[in-house]
Amino acid sequence: MHPRCLLSITALPQADAEQLLLNAGRCVSWIQRGGQLKSSSLRGTSTLLLFAENSTRTRVSFELAGKLLGSDTINISSKGSSIEKGESLRDTAMTLAAMHFSCVVMRHEAADSAEHFARWYPGPVLNAGAGRGEHPTQALLDAFTLQRHGLLRPGAKLAIVGDLTHSRVARSNLALLARFGVEVTLVGPPNLTPSAWRVGAGLGPPAPGASEKAGQDPPLRWTPDLDSILPELDAVMLLRVQHERMAGGEMSTQDEYSKLYGMNRRRLGMLRSDALIMHPGPVNRGVEAGEDVFSDPRCVINEQVESGLALRAALLAWALERELDF
Ligand code: NCD
Repeated sequence: MHPRCLLSITALPQADAEQLLLNAGRCVSWIQRGGQLKSSSLRGTSTLLLFAENSTRTRVSFELAGKLLGSDTINISSKGSSIEKGESLRDTAMTLAAMHFSCVVMRHEAADSAEHFARWYPGPVLNAGAGRGEHPTQALLDAFTLQRHGLLRPGAKLAIVGDLTHSRVARSNLALLARFGVEVTLVGPPNLTPSAWRVGAGLGPPAPGASEKAGQDPPLRWTPDLDSILPELDAVMLLRVQHERMAGGEMSTQDEYSKLYGMNRRRLGMLRSDALIMHPGPVNRGVEAGEDVFSDPRCVINEQVESGLALRAALLAWALERELDF
């Protein structure tokens, strides 16, 4: 496995995470200054984007970041590639290795897909979302967004709200933000919360047959009651309801969900005037967030997209061991 793989957030050394956030700061000023200015930081490299699951923000930001820094980027999706014909990830990795891409960015529905692929691919592999497993670049861009607002610090209070069971965003964020001392509270309905998280928080019985391991450090906080904690939050991170990952029966109705967990006018009134509202996108409008959210000055959903472009530019340079030339 190449040492500059980013497969999970826990495997990323803290010094590297901090350097990435610093470089994302340089990238965001550079992007804001010059828009589409080109850099030659990654000249002579090639980046393969292998997306076997849908994506807008993640794929496009990686591609644009690569292009702005001078890397040749090539896209493949499962549709139209041999993955659709049943080629295994191992064979795909070995095929792509023969083309000597400098780096592979990949998204796939299996939680262990990036680890598996990286065993067979000799270059850096960046996990751009692996099933219900991890989404480390989302966690980094969310941390960067919080940092831009002075909230990546011990004692900052953040709630991650919604469909926790199916969320790779929640898993990666929980691990990364804890390292910076951010106090994360998980908020979601019991039937959309992994039993280990409820048990770890000392609340709620384990679901029958649950096999997840408890025991996180620092202690987990979980509550099904969003309204009870809203007024004390510095930031609220809404999660998309992942209909495509549900077996059925997890959700009563969308109306019920949005009544309990949706950000609406009433809840906007309960949130502090300087709190942030985040969502990784895409948003199910009217479910996780009502129309009022998008015009609210506390909403940073589009700023997260800008953070994503900057962070992924910094990450490609890290993976390819190149200095940024601006
Ligand atoms: C997330 C993803 O795909 O995991 N979105 C993203 O990367 N911007 C969240 C989601 O789809 O719910």
